[in-house]
Amino acid sequence: MSDDITPAGRRPETRHGTRALLISAAAALLAAGAALTFAGSANAASTLGASAAERGRYFGTAVAANKLSDGAYTTILNREFNQVTPENEMKIDATEPQQNQFTFANADRIVNYAQQRGMKIKGHTLAWHSQQPGWMQRMEGTTLRQAMLNHVTQVVTYYRGKLDSWDVVNEAFADGNSGARRDSNLQRTGNDWIEAAFRAARAADPNVKLCYNDYNIDNWTAAKTQAVYRMVQDFKQRGVPIDCVGLQSHFTGGSSYPSNYRTTLSSFAALGVDVQITELDITNADPNQYRNAVADCMAVPRCTGITVWGIRDSDSWRSGERPLLFDGNGNKKQAYDAVLQALNDGVTPTTPPTTPPTGGPTTPPTTPPTQGPGGCSATVSVQSWTGGFVATVRVTAGSSGTNGWRVTMTLPSGATIVNTWNAQPSGTSGTVTFSNMSYNGRLGAGQSTEFGFQGNGVGTGMTPSCSAT
Ligand code: XIL
Repeated sequence: MSDDITPAGRRPETRHGTRALLISAAAALLAAGAALTFAGSANAASTLGASAAERGRYFGTAVAANKLSDGAYTTILNREFNQVTPENEMKIDATEPQQNQFTFANADRIVNYAQQRGMKIKGHTLAWHSQQPGWMQRMEGTTLRQAMLNHVTQVVTYYRGKLDSWDVVNEAFADGNSGARRDSNLQRTGNDWIEAAFRAARAADPNVKLCYNDYNIDNWTAAKTQAVYRMVQDFKQRGVPIDCVGLQSHFTGGSSYPSNYRTTLSSFAALGVDVQITELDITNADPNQYRNAVADCMAVPRCTGITVWGIRDSDSWRSGERPLLFDGNGNKKQAYDAVLQALNDGVTPTTPPTTPPTGGPTTPPTTPPTQGPGGCSATVSVQSWTGGFVATVRVTAGSSGTNGWRVTMTLPSGATIVNTWNAQPSGTSGTVTFSNMSYNGRLGAGQSTEFGFQGNGVGTGMTPSCSAT
């Protein structure tokens, strides 16, 4: 197999040259109907896991079983992380090296370690074109389909009740502009191999969350992202069991953090799945990219956790690029501070209470909101593709600042909203009023905030008007 070349750049190589790996208590935010938000330093936690937990999320790392005897490694692991993903120990070649002979010793070391410390565990991964044992690499057709389903059933059954989630299928889509499935022996067993794997996993454990995981699905407008999105949408519509989508997010020089990352996270989430950043590492650990990626997850309520792909640079599969949060000596890098800050700054957007506050239902205002003397203004920028668009609206407060704001826009006929973030829309088509959320209504004089929405149809000619409250 040759290395994947993507328009975005070459995939990082694995250190195993012989392999063709292509790589290859914060939930209590609602008190008496009022949304509480965290305002940064007042609640600043001093470790990644504690900070994420305060916002109802996890912060994890890939773990290698053979490093659990390295004291420097485990000191950081125990202090900073509350989730783990076995880096290689649950892959098909590790758990079923000979057909129907399962070996879980190394995976169990990680599972036991994590369980003893109350860390969440993501199983990785049940069905993948890469890191297949020799016997499976040589298989095709019905025999392979049966073997794959047997593998899913046996491994999920073995770990039933112990894991938070499973990467059921990994990396099933092709890079580039085709939006097609990646060719592999699994794909050649029939296009329904992915849903068959998810159904087998659900049958083996009704409670573990079932995820689809992939790389290069970070940029919302990329063909690969759109193709995975359509598959998840189709699965949700047809009742194929899927609970989460993992964005690996191996950011490289050529395929770096995209500015529309938040749109990607919120768009997947709007399909009714959790989203997670599952294998984060960034060339030279650029602190800005790390900060932005984490802030984006914090801004999307269903972005439930972040996992970095290793602890120290020396632990990384891309060690030459020093892409992690700790240097080889276990010292915190600048990127560490950026991530901790972004976690501590993170507010958890809340949906408005569904029940009226005590005191009975409130009548909606019948008169237009009074406008603060300084008012506000709004501008929109639209990014379109065939059949859809994303609108980003910037709200800027006038000279008096705002306590709240409302932006009204008329969508062109035929256009409908499928997903909104950082604002509450009054409807999905025609003239729509977007109201601020609890956490972004208050703006100082001249300050700005952004909200956005994704639409079907054409998003041209929308002129926003803003009123301050
Ligand atoms: C990598 C591991 O980090 C390496 O140790 C191993 O040699 C190859 O695989 N996408 C995935 C991960 O889903 O499983 C890969 O992990 C990195 C890319």
